Order: sequence, then structure tokens, then C-alpha cells
Amino acid sequence: MKSGTLEDTAPDVEKLVERVRPSVRRESPYVVGAPPEADVKLNQNESPYDLPPALKEEVAERVQEIPLNRYPAEQPERLRARLAERLDLDPAGVIVGNGSNELTYTMGQALMTSGDAVVLPRPMFALYAKVARMNGADLTEVPPREDLTFDTGALVEAIEREQPALVILASPNNPTGRAMPLSEIRAVVEAAPGFVVVDEAYVEFGEEESARTLIGEHPGVILLRTFSKAYGLAGLRVGFLAMRPALGHELMKARLPFMTSRLSEEVALAVLEREDLMSERIAALREATRHLRDGLRAMDGVEVVSSQSNFMLFKPAVENAPALLEHLAEEESVLVRDMSGYPSLEGYLRVCAGTPDENKAFLAALKRAL
Ligand SMILES: Cc1ncc(COP(=O)(O)O)c(C=O)c1O
Repeated sequence: MKSGTLEDTAPDVEKLVERVRPSVRRESPYVVGAPPEADVKLNQNESPYDLPPALKEEVAERVQEIPLNRYPAEQPERLRARLAERLDLDPAGVIVGNGSNELTYTMGQALMTSGDAVVLPRPMFALYAKVARMNGADLTEVPPREDLTFDTGALVEAIEREQPALVILASPNNPTGRAMPLSEIRAVVEAAPGFVVVDEAYVEFGEEESARTLIGEHPGVILLRTFSKAYGLAGLRVGFLAMRPALGHELMKARLPFMTSRLSEEVALAVLEREDLMSERIAALREATRHLRDGLRAMDGVEVVSSQSNFMLFKPAVENAPALLEHLAEEESVLVRDMSGYPSLEGYLRVCAGTPDENKAFLAALKRAL
């Protein structure tokens, strides 16, 4: 039968669809909802900088040596050891995944059982609430302070009341760009009876100290990091978790094996050898974010949320922010992201730092549109 003739509304198909786990059926697929190409693409918190051609060539040479007919190891052991060394941890406490999102699913499998309490601040990277819901968690979401920072006092109260199996904090947080001081993360960790995941996907851009030190203070702390942002490898898909080795051994039982390809391991290792280049780029992106902030602040009626990340959340003084976003995409070929779907963020848009030219083009396009 040709696929075009398959009848999705047939009663037997509908019945089958109803048998998909209800906690999954209630969710929506992840959709970026923008054309993949544009002159100025600032909608996915990516780095605007690809690897330099010379480094790509070097990697391509290394790739010549890789037997692609062979499975990789369950874990990319050289990369794992290198990351463990950088964090001064036992390699057994590091788990590398095919992007950090993939590891969030592993944590969903390993760290919660249906009916468990999970406490999350909001607004926060939406995947966490989704994974908690899909695993049947009893979810408590704690609203932010007025300045969109996480309300640590309210979080501690919720933790004391709910006794959650899991708490997740993103710092710096997406989509707000706000970060938690280490003392506030510590207060949450000290109140929590179970696991506390600290998502540090954007930590390289911020000024707050990493929560790495808390792994030594509390056995349930897990850091989540990624190569997708400061290291500019979103297309490669490499992220990792860092924790105590005893916990690493348990999470490895929930892992799908072979999720980091031999190619990914090689590229990630090559990038870690170029710390100089990475630091330069991080500095450029911090500068670019400041430039965006100043440019946005200079526009009439635009509210800007101060950010410790490579992106800015802002609220233009327009009735319909999604329409403005559409106008920027269609008329100016500039992509930014609509954040209206998050509670407390109605009317907000998010723009990430691009190259100096891209940032200028975005600011000019927004000015014209306003
Ligand atoms: C807060 C946060 N955590 C994790 C990720 C996922 O990163 P990746 O799966 O590319 O490692 C993102 C990506 O946007 C993010 O914003």
C-alpha cells in the first residue's frame, strides 16, 4: 500500500493510538517552529561560530583512523576520562550522552518512579517538566520572583513539604538567562532529601560559580553540561553528567549503550585541546550579549531581563509579540524565539548572541519593526 493511502482516522487506528501511554499522549512533540535557514539565525541559543576549517581538517584526518564498522565503547572512555580530569572527579562519575537532552531521559528512567514528588522552579527549560510528567511524577512547579530569578525560599518550602525524589535547577536558566548564586543552590541542596540536578548548559557565559563543589558536599547532586553552547557543537550532540561514582554506576544501568559515536568523541576531544580558541569565543559571545542588552535597552518600551548567558529575554511594547517575531522572520530573515508559551512570559521574545554583524542586523531589524 502506498503511504498516501493510509487512513489515519480508521477506527482501528484510533483505538491503537489510544493505547499509547496516556502520559505520552498528553504531551506535544518538540517543535522549534521556524524555518531552518535564515540570514540571521538567533533562535536556538547556538554558537554562531563553527569550528575553524583547519580544525575540521585535523578532525577529518583523525576520522580516517576510526573503524566505522565497529561499535564504539558503551561510554567514550577517553572523553570521559578527560572530562573527569577537568572536573577532578572519578571517571565513573561522568556519563557522556548524545547531547545532554538524551541524558535527561536517562535521569527520568533512573531517578523517579510514577507517583514520586518532583519539584521544579519555573519558568525553566521545558524538557524537565515534560520528562517528569511522562514518567508519572507528581510535579510541583514553583513560580519565580518578580525579576524572574528562582524563588529559593519558596523552593525550599516546597521541598520541605513535598519531600521530592528529584529537584532540577538550571543555572544560568533558559529561557530567562538568570543564574542562581552558589549559596542559593546550596540552600536547595541542603533542604532536598533526594537528587538535585543542576543544569549548567550555559555556565561558561555566567559569573556565578559552578555547583561542582556541591558534589563533594551532598551525595545526590548531579551536574549537567553540554558541548552545544559555549563549545559550539550543537550539531554534534555531546553532553554529560557529573556526579559521585556510586551514583554514576547506578545511572549507567539505565543508559542506552553506544549513544556517543566514535566521531563525536574525536571531535569533542579535539575541541577540548583548543581551550584558547574556546575562551576567545566565550569572551566574544559575552561581549555580544552585552551589546544586545544595550541595544535593546536603548529601544523605547522594550523590557530587558539581565542575563548571565549567551541570550537575552526581552519584552517589546507590542500587543502581539508572536506577530512581531513572524514579521522579523518573513520580512527581515531574522529568527528569534517566542517565549509566550511559558507561564509568566507572555509577550516575551528571546534572542541569542550571534556574530557582531548578526547582532547589528537583528537590532536594526527590530528597530524598524517597532
Ligand atoms: C538549559 C538547557 N539545558 C540543556 C539543553 C540541551 O542541550 P543539548 O541537548 O544540546 O546538550 C539546552 C538547550 O537548549 C538548554 O537550554
